[in-house]
Amino acid sequence: MSRFVVTGGRKLFGEAEVQGAKNSALPILAATILTRGENLLFNCPMLSDVDASMRILRYLGCDAYEQSGAVIVNSDGLRENDIPDSLMREMRSSIVFLGALLARTGYAKLSFPGGCELGPRPIDLHLKALRKMGAKISERYGVIECRAENGLKGAKIDLSFPSVGATENIILAAVRAEGPTTIINAAREPEITDLCDFLNEAGAEIYGAGEGVIVINGGKELYGASHNIIPDRIVAATLMSSAAVTGSEITLRGVVQNHLSAVIPVFEETGCKAVFNDGDLLFSAPERLKSMRLVRTMPYPGFPTDAQAVLMAAATLCDGTSVFAENIFENRFKHVEGLTRLGADINVQGRVAVVNGVKSLYGAKIEARDLRGAAALVTAALAAEDKTEIYGIEYLERGYESYEVLLSSLGADVRKI
Ligand code: EPZ
Repeated sequence: MSRFVVTGGRKLFGEAEVQGAKNSALPILAATILTRGENLLFNCPMLSDVDASMRILRYLGCDAYEQSGAVIVNSDGLRENDIPDSLMREMRSSIVFLGALLARTGYAKLSFPGGCELGPRPIDLHLKALRKMGAKISERYGVIECRAENGLKGAKIDLSFPSVGATENIILAAVRAEGPTTIINAAREPEITDLCDFLNEAGAEIYGAGEGVIVINGGKELYGASHNIIPDRIVAATLMSSAAVTGSEITLRGVVQNHLSAVIPVFEETGCKAVFNDGDLLFSAPERLKSMRLVRTMPYPGFPTDAQAVLMAAATLCDGTSVFAENIFENRFKHVEGLTRLGADINVQGRVAVVNGVKSLYGAKIEARDLRGAAALVTAALAAEDKTEIYGIEYLERGYESYEVLLSSLGADVRKI
């Protein structure tokens, strides 16, 4: 198990380029199954989750490899239509391959995506929608088997919750379905819009991405496209939190302002300043942060659940009390244990965490339990006096590309062991 050793108490300075968005790259890699010919994905982050997705594509018979900073996928050779249990277990978001496989081959078999560290991760909304499009789905012994021998039919799908994954699976199933599909209460995350931009570049006809209603006119032949993946808004929020918690000023390159419209005001509440100029963000923090008051995670464009942990890391040193309400996932406070070991004062009641700011944090040996929790522990360690050892860095590497190199380039003392 690899670990980070962080020597905190140092200011950050300089500028950093924000990596491509993991949660855009993953569904777009699945979408390449639906195209004929070669796809070129630029700004694709090199992460363990991206690597796992490329291994799934190669297992299915596709060509998928990285060459001089781009990921190249050609799915003409696809000949399998199941995803082995080992690959499914490695990355629960492999469920996004379901819709694409079903649309391409009329059959898909994969094991139920294991619950993950955030609590149960049901896929009832995915399966209900695919059944409405004509798929015959059996769920037995933890295996999902889907058939649509006569192809899928477009349908009107009402989502009871704007699930990101369900919205993606429906879009991927619908682009080859016969007739139009309308998704009501679709997820509006920027990664959904990026997926639809890629599909439209490949020849699809999708309208309304980023809005609550998305219409997909199915039945189009799709051809390989080249696409620039959007920057990762959660990595941007993590770097901002790192500057906030160390009272630093940094410049972030490749940040899309409106992707952070719910995050910036929380930092401004604490006294931080965020100035955008053409794709760059100049972010500066006061010596002592004021409290964040109340942060409630909501579907986009509300405050993103993926940024909850990393902002809580900064809240530990705010002057006053900050309250976090986690409305999306059942169990997304696993980072509280590690933050508390660093000296934070946090009280969790169900889905609410009350953070009373403390004067300072102290180094300790701590362990990450999930991806964004790991990022929160690294963020807090930057402000902790003396040395912190963070175990479970495999979680971090699912979503943060060479993160110790990135932080070191900003002046932090972070070593990977
Ligand atoms: C995506 O997960 C992201 N993952 C998550 O990011 C992110 O936290 C989440 O969206 C919310 O924004 C990827 O894009 C790969 P959901 P997803 O379906 O699709 C419930 C990270 O850190 N639900 O919107 O799984 C579900 O249990 C990861 O990068 C159902 O009940 O999220 C959860 O409570 C973590 N039934 C809520 O909806 C369903 O059929 C949100 O899930 C589907 C979801």
